[in-house]
Amino acid sequence: MTSAEFFPHRHLLGIAGLQPHEIMFLLDEAEQWVALNRQSSKHDDRLAGLTQINAFFENSTRTLLSFEIAGKRLGADVVNMHIAQSSVKKGETLIDTAITLNAMRPDVIVIRHGSSGAVALIADKVDCPVLNAGDGTHEHPTQGLLDALTIRRHKGRIAGLSVAICGDILHSRVARSNIILLTNLGAQVRVVGPPTLLPPALDALGVEAFTDMDAGIAGVDVVMMLRLQNERMDGAYVPSAREYHALWGLTRERLAGAAPDALVMHPGPMNRGVEIASDVADDVNRSVIAEQVEMGVAVRMACLDVLTRGRRGR
Ligand code: CP
Repeated sequence: MTSAEFFPHRHLLGIAGLQPHEIMFLLDEAEQWVALNRQSSKHDDRLAGLTQINAFFENSTRTLLSFEIAGKRLGADVVNMHIAQSSVKKGETLIDTAITLNAMRPDVIVIRHGSSGAVALIADKVDCPVLNAGDGTHEHPTQGLLDALTIRRHKGRIAGLSVAICGDILHSRVARSNIILLTNLGAQVRVVGPPTLLPPALDALGVEAFTDMDAGIAGVDVVMMLRLQNERMDGAYVPSAREYHALWGLTRERLAGAAPDALVMHPGPMNRGVEIASDVADDVNRSVIAEQVEMGVAVRMACLDVLTRGRRGR
């Protein structure tokens, strides 16, 4: 089979719409880049001559830097569009921005935007593959993939695992991409959080909802903590950070209720002392938070490589 048959998509806009074997294909492709990234020389020039534009309309550390590093390690010419200094600040529309970027003939565009659906809108206007680096509360597909890669490398599988995604589920594109990915690959997914931060219609997503943290993480193989996304809240969803930590924060005592070898994950950035206690986040025997960041580079290299193969005649 050619790679186009393994992954017949022009863009990566979300995990929704991907078949389980397509997800596994991207994870398998990422493994080679984990190995390369651990060598002193990290170059593979298969994207040489291609132009990658990173257009981040929302702040980012991990996703922006890892996409930049990924493109550079593959030999692409990587350009970051600085939104604060761009004509977006003069009122240029999203569609006109997309048409302008497209006129410069990029070979791949990576976009983060605060509005759900904005990345799909841009993808519709350009002639090259588009990767969604997070759109509003909709999806963050490469985060879902890097989380799955991290889990698979530790547990050897995804199917049959029990994963608790805890915290602000309502506003989290990370939760959404992970729920779709992990359930598609056969994991049992629980979501845990205050009633105000659990979205309606969770049954349709195939997850079990808990408002009690201890009950929600009892016996699970993976505890994935999420940040309170205050920037997406229009009012108070929790009484106070202190109360939130007392009821839904991951502490060492609480983690003892999960499986003895349960992984602790967090997509970052963390609010230490709110959704996760520092000693848990920094516990090298349980926390794989730094490894998630490492896997992010490998997964993004795989996605850039796979999506540009058509342009390279492979
Ligand atoms: N996990 C994640 O998307 O982090 P950044 O916002 O720093 O990119």
